[in-house]
Order: sequence, then structure tokens, then C-alpha cells
Amino acid sequence: MPTISLKAGAMSVPVTEAVNPITKNVDVASPLEIVSLLHKCDKEIFEGWNEYKSLYDEEVLATLDKIITVAASIIENAASGLIVLSGCGTSGRIAFLTARTFNAKLSELSRTPCFKYLIAGRDKALFTSQEAPEDDPVCGVEMLKEITDGKTKVLFIGITCGLSAPYVGGQLQYCMENLGVFTPVVLGFNPTHLARNNPIEKWESTFLQVINKMEEMKSSSNVFILNPVVGPEPITGSSRMKSGSATKVLLETIFTGAILSAKSGDRPWQTKSFIQSYQVVCNNLYNAKGSMEAVAQIVELAGNSLKSNGSIYYVGEGTLGIMGMIDASECPPTYGASLSDVRGFLDRGYKSFRNNDGDLSSLGLHFQISFNDMIKDILPHVKPFDVVIYITSDGNVDQRMTKCLCKKALISFAPKSSTVISTDVEVNMSLPKEALISLIGETAFQQFSMLFEEISTKWILNAITTGTHVMKGKVFQNMMVDLKVSNNKLFHRAIGIIQRFSELSLEDSKDCLLRSIYNTDNLSEEIRERPISCHIEAATPLSQVVPRALLSAILSCSVSESQRLLDKEPVIQKVISQTLSGVNQ
Ligand code: F6P
Repeated sequence: MPTISLKAGAMSVPVTEAVNPITKNVDVASPLEIVSLLHKCDKEIFEGWNEYKSLYDEEVLATLDKIITVAASIIENAASGLIVLSGCGTSGRIAFLTARTFNAKLSELSRTPCFKYLIAGRDKALFTSQEAPEDDPVCGVEMLKEITDGKTKVLFIGITCGLSAPYVGGQLQYCMENLGVFTPVVLGFNPTHLARNNPIEKWESTFLQVINKMEEMKSSSNVFILNPVVGPEPITGSSRMKSGSATKVLLETIFTGAILSAKSGDRPWQTKSFIQSYQVVCNNLYNAKGSMEAVAQIVELAGNSLKSNGSIYYVGEGTLGIMGMIDASECPPTYGASLSDVRGFLDRGYKSFRNNDGDLSSLGLHFQISFNDMIKDILPHVKPFDVVIYITSDGNVDQRMTKCLCKKALISFAPKSSTVISTDVEVNMSLPKEALISLIGETAFQQFSMLFEEISTKWILNAITTGTHVMKGKVFQNMMVDLKVSNNKLFHRAIGIIQRFSELSLEDSKDCLLRSIYNTDNLSEEIRERPISCHIEAATPLSQVVPRALLSAILSCSVSESQRLLDKEPVIQKVISQTLSGVNQ
């Protein structure tokens, strides 16, 4: 079976799309090994990767300091100013969470909240993947104009981990054309020359051209590129993981700094120390006695549940509950999971969520997020092998949520209160308080310790959903091969996967993908020449598009023959490894 290695020197593949050698055998690892491999990958966020600039690079720290100054001046003049955080998928969800957190902080300090977030596909995309709008720069600009109307100073941070999303690219272009009002920042995790250069329909630019323009302008104007490299994702291309965590670290470093600078004119810590505090939290999380084992036990419990067609339910309050919802929302696009496989519920639902568009529960079952919704619709019907995972900061769990006959796990940052029911597994975490205080001081620790609980929760939940889908056989080597072909980036990623394993040419790999999308063995010129957006539209509602294409590419067989193999052995990891080792020849 071929293993795919990373040719670091000759990289033309963006780092965020490259294969991480650490996890190349994750598909055959035990739950404990999976958790440990993920930790090794997360360490790269802080330790850096290859020769590229890391989070601690002087240039990165200097850029962060300049952005902090701009943000602080907007916080001080909030009546006319605004800070806009924008992104697609997980990047948009982290934008939402950050805006929510820092608006609340400003309110606590009796200052005017001045953060707004934008997400491609609007608030529906906070729960369910809406990938087509990610390719729409015009819509991005319209949404930006709408929320910044009347403002005279706007700090715009466009988050796109792969330096690739046209939605964000269009917004950055608009900002550069209006520098009197906007200070544009791009936040991503590739070196600039690896920004995406694919043409996008109805956009006369590419993301690379946008970045090149920013490079030209950055020395003479208030234009910033924040692009440390954190190394390839543990599951190839899954930027929700390391890139999502690094996004959270960087945004919070900027805005904690800005809030304190605005408050007292100075900060009691260096930018570098704030980043270091997340590194300390990361190491503490995995090194704490028994914690890796406990997370692995939850992976095992939840993986067995998914394998038996059960569901995983996260239950939490405040931002920890939101971390659960974000993690759940990422499973369908990443692993082809159903919307019911993993769901998140939040105490007080939309009242606590505080999103732009308010209560979306009328959109359907999967937009119903409150504890009451869960008590009404889920708890009476849970199956014995379903898993409810309670996430709590203070050790308390709402008793109403515990009345169910299924598996239970607890992730807690405080000793469990005595009223809580018994659970099958518990992860009891405590933050490394002394180390954190020595880095950022007692006051900041008191004010911002929640951020460290959130990132710890993110790391644990990402490990749970990654591990469970690996157990379910959704990953081959360290690739999610059953991805949805629902936007331009994913269309090209799918071709890359077919090419990688079949060793066909790019053109032939693309033909295989099209044959699978259109369910035909005779591809007409007319189909080949259709714009990519048409292929995406046709592929989006279909399932198993990439596995089907991949098998017919490896076996040189018809689309129906590869579908037959998939029907016979639905575990994708197995069917691909069997095929590559000649079993299906
Ligand atoms: O296209 C879907 C997706 O890959 C999401 O899974 C991801 O969170 C999002 O795009 C954002 O990607 P980026 O931050 O690179 O623009």
C-alpha cells in the first residue's frame, strides 16, 4: 500500500493541504494512539514547522503588536469604529465566537461593544456547512458593506486558513480600495506564495493576486498579512483543527491586548507571553496524569456508538457549549457524517448564543439547540449506546439533562459537584494556574481564564470527533476521502486525492471525478467543458462521489462497478486499502 510522504523542499502544495507524516497511519491506530498523534500535531502549532515563520517569529509578533494598536484605537472610539471578523466554515465560526466574547468583555467594562462577525452563508453556516457561498466574492463584499455602513474606521480581519476563500478575498480587495476607512488584515497559515491561484467564475482575480497586492501595499499603508505556518493538519486539509486553534490563539492575543491597552494604555504582558500561555495549556492538557487516557476512553465510547449508528450529543453552557456546537457542525462536511451523528446543545439556546440573525429554530430540527429542545426531542428517545458528553466549567451539570439511559461522559474544569450522576468516563482538567499567572499576571488570568478552558475543550472535542470517525473507517491513511465536493477548493482537493492514490494524470483524475459525479462511463465533451460551478452543483447533493471515483481510477473499472464494491463494503478505509493491496482486482 503506498504511503504518501511530504516533499517539504519542493512544496507547491499549500501547507494547509499537505499530508502530515506524523499521522500517516492514524487510520489503523488505537484510540490512545490517535489522541497521542493529535497532540504531536498540535505541538507543531507552537514549535513551528520546517523553515517557515512560526507564531513566535519576530515579524509575526511585530505585526500582532501593530494590529493590537489599531484595534485599541477602535475600541476607544467605538461610536465611529468597528472591528469586523470574517471567514468561511470554521473560520467564520471562530469569528463569531471571538466577536461574541469580546463584545461581552467590553460590556463588562462599560464600554461600547464594537465587534461584528461575518460568515459565508450567513448564520445557517454556524450550524451546517454552506460551502457554495465561500466561492462568492461579490456576496462577501455586499455583506461587508451592509454591516460597516456609516462607520469611519474599520479594522477588517479576513480569516482564511488556506489563504484561499474568494468570499474573504473579495472583502480584502474592497478594503484595499477603501483604505480611508478600512485597515485590512488577512489571517491564514500558508506562506504567501502558496496562496490559492485558481480562477473563480465571476471573479477577475485569484486569492494569490489579492495577497500579492497586499504584499505590495503593506510597507506603505495600514495593510497586514498575518500568516505564520503551523504545519499540515492531522487529517489532511481539515483546517478546523490546527489552523482553527491557531486562529483562536491569534485573535484572542490581539483583542485581549487591545482591550487592556485601551483600558490602561498599557499591557502587563508581552504578546509573546500571551501566546506562550496557550502552549502551556496545550502541554498541560495532554501531559496531565490520566487525561490522554480519559480522552481516549471517550473516543472509544463515542466511536463504538457511531459504528452502531448511534449519536453523540454535547451538552454545555456558555462558550463551552458553543465549542461543542462548533465541533459538531464540522462533522458533516469533514466526514460525510449525518447532521444527527453529532449534535451540540446549549443552555438557554439562542438567548445564550447571541448570533446576528437570532432564533433560527424554525429552519428545522438541526437548528434547535437549547436544553429544552434536547429534553423534549432527544432524551426520551436515546439509545443505550448513544453518548451524551457534558462539558462544564464549574463542575455543575443541569440535572434535567442527566435523565437518560445511555452512555455518559464528563469534561470538567472543576471538581464534579456531588449532585451529578455517575458517568462512564470523566476528563477532569485544571488549568496550570501558576504557570499562566507567571506569564500574564493574576488579573489577566482571572479575566481571561475562560479562553484557556475553551481551547482545551476544542482540543478534546476535535480529538473525540476525529478519533470516532477514524474508528468508523472514514479516513484512509490520514485523508478524509469521503468529502463533499461542494465548492471550488473541495473540487480541486478531490482531484488531488484521486491523483495521489491512482497515479493518473491531473486530466484523467478530473475525468474520473466527473464520471462519478455524472454517473456515466462516457464523458462527453459538453460535460467536460461545463464550468466548475456546474460540477459542484451536481455533486453537492450526492454521496460517496470521491470514493466511487477513486476506486474506478485505481481499478480502471466502471462507475457502477466501483459503486458495487462500496455497497459490499461500506467502510471506506477498508475498501480502499483492500483495493490498493489488490484484493478487489
Ligand atoms: O470549504 C469548507 C471548509 O474547508 C471548511 O471545512 C473550513 O472550515 C472552511 O472551508 C474554511 O477554510 P479557510 O479558512 O481555508 O478559508
